[in-house]
Amino acid sequence: MKVPYLDLKAQYESIRGEIADAIQQVLDKTAFAGGPFVAQFEKEFAAFCGTQFATGVGSGTDALWVALLGLGIGPGDEVITVPDTFIATAEAISWCGAKPVFVDVDPITYNMDPSKVEAAITPKTRAIIPVHLFGQMANMDPILTIARKRRLFVVEDASQAHGAEYKGRKAGSIGDAGCFSFYPGKNLGAYGEAGAVVTNNEELDKKMRMLRDHGQAKKYFHSLIGWNARMDGIQGAILSVKLRHLEAWTEARRRNAKRYDELLRNVPGITVPVEAPNAKHVYHIYAIRVAERDRLIASLVEKDIHCGIHYPIPVHLLDAYKSLNLGKGSFPVAERSAAEFVSLPMYPELTPAQIDRVAGGIATFLESERRAAV
Ligand SMILES: Cc1ncc(COP(=O)(O)O)c(C=O)c1O
Repeated sequence: MKVPYLDLKAQYESIRGEIADAIQQVLDKTAFAGGPFVAQFEKEFAAFCGTQFATGVGSGTDALWVALLGLGIGPGDEVITVPDTFIATAEAISWCGAKPVFVDVDPITYNMDPSKVEAAITPKTRAIIPVHLFGQMANMDPILTIARKRRLFVVEDASQAHGAEYKGRKAGSIGDAGCFSFYPGKNLGAYGEAGAVVTNNEELDKKMRMLRDHGQAKKYFHSLIGWNARMDGIQGAILSVKLRHLEAWTEARRRNAKRYDELLRNVPGITVPVEAPNAKHVYHIYAIRVAERDRLIASLVEKDIHCGIHYPIPVHLLDAYKSLNLGKGSFPVAERSAAEFVSLPMYPELTPAQIDRVAGGIATFLESERRAAV
């Protein structure tokens, strides 16, 4: 039995008719760039997140970039984030002309360690970007307390956390802005590239709407230097269809995670994910930690079980950020977890038999390692 890391086709098959109808409507109205289908999705997604506004953009990277620019972040500024993330978080900071400043992550949740934030603040710091890694929200209360005290903006990178909760509040709704990716493999994934920013700040929302559309609020009256970061009409229509299913898909992911937890929790040599108290994890990624990571992945491939690694190199050690001069040992928790993470197959359509097969393959590998060691 093959267990792919992702199976987008299984989900598509379950909503094929609804998707075809939605795309047909966009074609009938030729509403391809922005337009009514994007506006409708923005309304629905803001309601889902519990915010007043949502602005659809072309990708999660656009969402972060538009949010930072909208908040006035620019050259000379510093923005604090984590190295345990996809490079886009740091890239958006860099493309505003600002400098990413990293702080290490918590060893249990792999999210920003709030106790490390104050020491990273300088007179140039303007904002903090906690990343809700793998689908679990960062510990927002202490981050917000520091941000308020030091007058810093908080931009949530919720690209992996659609519908996740912290003390009953949805991802994206707590900071000044919340940024989402709808990359196809995300919990709410488009059939192409798309993203969104949610906020309760009307001024910020207005500015972000202009920035995504060449700095114009009225056609050809450009009052800002913006960019083309618009969402496609077809993606808006597809996302509206998929949003209706998101809660059920999230519950399926949580059920799958629970089954993995039960099967793997007591296997020696494995660290399973921990859902923090007061958090609702949406398991975009179910990442375990194993010391013999690379050999484990190779042994699973032989059984036709396919895993991922998110992310093998923390951002501060990537060649792209060599100029920051942050060597190995700068962020030990992020570095150690990056060396041990294995992302197991995780999607709503994963069957109990597939989960059992993955867990069985892992347990067999670790058992044979143990035998070989004695
Ligand atoms: C944490 C995080 N931030 C930002 C992004 C960027 O999103 P996109 O690929 O839609 O530009 C991603 C997507 O992979 C992500 O996982």
